[in-house]
Amino acid sequence: MSALGLALPMTVPAPGLPARVRIHEVGARDGLQNEKATVPTEVKAEFIRRLADAGLTTIEATSFVHPKWVPQLADAEQLFPQVSDLSVDLPVLVPNERGLDRALALGARRVAVFASATESFAKANLNRTVDEALAMFEPVVARAKADGVHVRGYLSMCFGDPWEGPVPAAQVVRVCTALLDLGCDELSLGDTIGVATPGQVTALLTALSAEGVPTEALGVHFHDTYGQALANTLAALQYGVSTVDASAGGLGGCPYAKSATGNLATEDLVWMLHGLGIDTGVDLGRLVATSEWMADRLGRPSPSRTVRALSHKE
Ligand code: HMG
Ligand code: MG
Repeated sequence: MSALGLALPMTVPAPGLPARVRIHEVGARDGLQNEKATVPTEVKAEFIRRLADAGLTTIEATSFVHPKWVPQLADAEQLFPQVSDLSVDLPVLVPNERGLDRALALGARRVAVFASATESFAKANLNRTVDEALAMFEPVVARAKADGVHVRGYLSMCFGDPWEGPVPAAQVVRVCTALLDLGCDELSLGDTIGVATPGQVTALLTALSAEGVPTEALGVHFHDTYGQALANTLAALQYGVSTVDASAGGLGGCPYAKSATGNLATEDLVWMLHGLGIDTGVDLGRLVATSEWMADRLGRPSPSRTVRALSHKE
């Protein structure tokens, strides 16, 4: 129960917002890639099943990256077949053709490449310059598209970078345009270290739009280091964005950017969206129960305010 004795928020719509938001759930990938202890494959599979049962329809399952770079997700080959019967979209990260081969061999129908707006993070995360990484993605996107596979293009460090400081919008515009030119179906703008504030979000979306990047193709991906993720999301919704990345229970981070903390918690997002009368298809009670279940597996409480407020364990 919430402080008002409610299990759901009161609904008061606000003007100028989308009627429906598609939540791109990243807890099983972005969340678990950053855990110190490796989570057993069966626990990951059950986590994904519970997320689907809670009404999430896009659940990023894992990454087909080099297992030495992200050992936490080295079980991608074992995990994916355990969840591929679910009738939800299960995107997976693929950095290169080797990753694509592995994903396609298991029947993945949605993949994501992941670029960086900054040279420092491109090097740290992909061992490439920004342009070398784009060249690495080119055949990945071309082959996926030829196979009818949906491609998402992530773009990290869109606002601030731990090595380079504030990131000029022009850098973000350039790489976004390049990813769309490669053939990506959608893009996700990452605030990898969670430093953005709402005015910066609006400014970046305005700059992208001015350069011909369609807002409909954009999703947002906010980490919550400074508690700004929800405010930044509202700014993006007001601009017309209707795809929002979030992770159940606020799990998350990036092993190659130490200042990255958890993503926007899906529960906190759902509480706000439902309060605004925006449809998500998510059953908040089931989602909270799932994050509590996962918190038990991980041995520590969820950082999500909404999970704590609605905790079944009082
Ligand atoms: P590299 O060391 O330059 O690799 O790493 P390489 O291309 O030189 O290949 C070296 C060896 O690795 C070869 O084997 C390849 O076959 C093998 P060898 O011939 O020596 O025996 N290899 C692979 N094996 C399995 N699967 C593969 C694969 N690729 C190569 N896919 C590489 C380059 C891209 C592979 C590496 O840097 C990597 O895996 N990086 C992934 C890092 C990562 O996953 N980071 C987290 C995700 S991004 C994120 O969290 C941000 C996001 O959430 C948005 C945001 O918050 O901003 C998306
Ligand atoms: Mg992330």
